[in-house]
Amino acid sequence: MTQTRPASDHIDAMLHEDRVVAPSADFQARARMGREDYDRRYRQSLDDPDTFWSEVAGQLHWFAPWQEVLDWQPPHAQWFVGGQTNIAYNALDRNVARGLGAKTAIIWEGEDGEVRRFTYAELLAEVKRAANALTALGVEKGDRVTLYLPLVPEAAIAMLACARIGAVHSVVFGGFSVSALADRLNDAQSKLLITADAGQRRGALVSLKANADEAAALAPSLEKMLVVCRADCEAPMQAGRDVWWHDALAAAGAEHEAAPLDSEHPLFVLYTSGSTGKPKGVQHTTGGYMVGTYLTTQTVFDLQDDDVYWCTADVGWITGHSYSVYGPLLNGATVLMYEGAPNHPDWGRFWQLVARHRVTILYTAPTAIRSFMRQGDDFPARADLSSLRLLGSVGEPINPEAWMWYWRVIGSERCPVVDTWWQTETGSIMLTTLPGAHPSKPGSAGLPMFGVEPAIMTRSGEELGADDGGLLVLKRPWPSMLRTVYGDDERYRKAYWGEIEGVYFAGDGARRDADGYYTVMGRVDDVLNVSGHRLGTMEIESALVAHPSVAEAAVVGRPDDVKGECVVAFVLPQGGYTVDPKELRAHVSKEIGALARPDAIYIADALPKTRSGKIMRRFLRQIAAGRSIEGDTSTLEDPSVLERLAATPSV
Ligand code: WTA
Repeated sequence: MTQTRPASDHIDAMLHEDRVVAPSADFQARARMGREDYDRRYRQSLDDPDTFWSEVAGQLHWFAPWQEVLDWQPPHAQWFVGGQTNIAYNALDRNVARGLGAKTAIIWEGEDGEVRRFTYAELLAEVKRAANALTALGVEKGDRVTLYLPLVPEAAIAMLACARIGAVHSVVFGGFSVSALADRLNDAQSKLLITADAGQRRGALVSLKANADEAAALAPSLEKMLVVCRADCEAPMQAGRDVWWHDALAAAGAEHEAAPLDSEHPLFVLYTSGSTGKPKGVQHTTGGYMVGTYLTTQTVFDLQDDDVYWCTADVGWITGHSYSVYGPLLNGATVLMYEGAPNHPDWGRFWQLVARHRVTILYTAPTAIRSFMRQGDDFPARADLSSLRLLGSVGEPINPEAWMWYWRVIGSERCPVVDTWWQTETGSIMLTTLPGAHPSKPGSAGLPMFGVEPAIMTRSGEELGADDGGLLVLKRPWPSMLRTVYGDDERYRKAYWGEIEGVYFAGDGARRDADGYYTVMGRVDDVLNVSGHRLGTMEIESALVAHPSVAEAAVVGRPDDVKGECVVAFVLPQGGYTVDPKELRAHVSKEIGALARPDAIYIADALPKTRSGKIMRRFLRQIAAGRSIEGDTSTLEDPSVLERLAATPSV
């Protein structure tokens, strides 16, 4: 381990890779897990996984015990084989039974300042009613239910109600468009859509119901729509199809027994971008996901009984599934949920929330941290942030400068910062430091979590040593691993276990230092990471060419100070049309969602292609970043295209 430096010389050392920030003695003394505990348990998790995982899973409730911890038939894994459990039962009934009924489970704050609270007993009562309401609407075990909701407590209640009856939820982020929603409804063949009349965003109402109606018209499998009243309950309702959430719950019975489900029963599908044009439905199952999120939330966030835990992610993303809902509730934690924008009414909103609800653990994304950093230190300085004791980061690489700001200004050099690397597919955190056990190195995610065996490899599967950059792979399955791509097992085999023989390929580039810390550099495939959200370049390209004025399109990422990466589009106009950039941006928003809107558009007369017709995105990335062209251009059919493009202003 490198020498720990004192905390004070951080600024000048900011960009040095050898910077190390150790947790304070005070934090270490109270932490759940120290260095020796980690070393011992990590070793056990690899050498004797059956004992390790049995111990963890045994802390949760099973209706029937498992016969085998892992059945691994590459690339298919089954965990806790033969066991029966229910994740909603474990998150609610179990916690009420162990005396947490009166403890606050969810504190929710709306953008308009409204606050709602649910104790564990109250949340359980709501989820029981919602489960009965789903059954009354004809939803059965194994049916898919799509959620298209703002971040309101009903989102968590609906997820837990699905889980309680064994229905498979598919949450679609409320910022996604009609066509994105319709695609996901159709792929999952959902029977029921749960939405809201509207959501609040920067003081305005966003009509989700109107989008839901349009998408429903394109989704033949859909039978019913359940509508949460978040605004004024005035949305038009289609007779025979639409039911208000509050009416359905009022009519539903209060008693409900959670269904005992097979450990491998599907829990949810969550769509994410890959390197093809079509988002994939990442499928997770019950037992392994439950055990993975339970253990990681407890250890990575060092959960203590009196914590107020806030993960700022929307439930539309995996972080919202694992660390706003399932992981913390399984642990009986008090969770804060905030509905709105971080800058409403101003950039101090997050810090006011921390102060008002005495938040102790804050888990957010580097893009948010960089936005706050830009607004200066005054906003956080105006709020009392003394309740905070631990900070977390997720979603993209955090640059050391943003890390230091987070640690210094938000955490007052008192709160450890955990940088957590994982993916929709991994279900739970894979690489991080444990706050009481390990020093952090700004910019580096850290060490493997229990049961995780990472390596750095070349494309041909050759393992690389310390400090060599390569591809990040995981060498064995872990409980919360995706089981397949919904409806497309072939894609699962190819994309994850077929790229490099015998290992899980994450799609990221990374390196490991001499202390075993992993630094994740970013995607090596055609996936962009914009504000911590995955976007496939091919998805955006298909959206662009769907517009009549575009004949051909190529999309690349450009480094961005706040978003990490932003979308740059190169488009070739269709003969007889002129490209209107404003209209094209609106079109992409309509096809995918506002987050996919190109920041810059180059209207080109040709794209750099090889003689075989392949677009050389490498050169487009250089042009988009305003860099000079580097690399061998001789394979291009017409190298002069590059000069013309470089001289074209973007719009
Ligand atoms: C990136 C989000 C560096 C990475 C949980 C990964 C990160 C993708 C980190 C998954 C991190 C996530 N450091 N990169 N701490 N966390 N990533 O599926 O490229 O939305 O492959 O899951 O985000 O994004 P996803």
